[in-house]
Amino acid sequence: MVSEKMAVELNKQLNFEIYSAYVYASMSSWLKSKDLAGFSNWMNVQVREEMDHAMRFYEFLHDSGASVEFDTVPKPKTEWADVNEVFEDTLAHERAVTSRIGKLIDLALEEKDHATNAALQWFISEQVEEESGVSAILKQVKRVNDFPNMLFMLDRELGQRAYTPPATSGA
Ligand code: FEO
Repeated sequence: MVSEKMAVELNKQLNFEIYSAYVYASMSSWLKSKDLAGFSNWMNVQVREEMDHAMRFYEFLHDSGASVEFDTVPKPKTEWADVNEVFEDTLAHERAVTSRIGKLIDLALEEKDHATNAALQWFISEQVEEESGVSAILKQVKRVNDFPNMLFMLDRELGQRAYTPPATSGA
């Protein structure tokens, strides 16, 4: 069982993961409209991963006897100045997610809720990978942002990213 307070906070994060998927879907669409199919593909994989994260919270809440409450998803940004801004926003978003997961762990520790703490450790490891992956792309984007030919080469590279379904559905 998780506490009522923890269930509320986990539900907020479930909904934030869905919002993350929405943010990346909007970025994917903008990138596609700029004929950057590879960047758009990369974001589409991100969308699917964010929905997996949401469903991981969904499973954990159900397994813990708590209810799941879906909320209104805020409208995401729809326009960016360039690819650099898209990835600046992506990194800022992932840092915000990391901070939120950290606060959930703080609460789990405060409540001596070892099961939730253990489930959240997966997310902390995932955030290290997410931030590192996005930082690496942002560095490359900064180098090539003003050179269309090089941007298209990076676009081709990011077109190779493939979605890998999670090994297990539970958290
Ligand atoms: Fe679900 Fe990208 O954090």
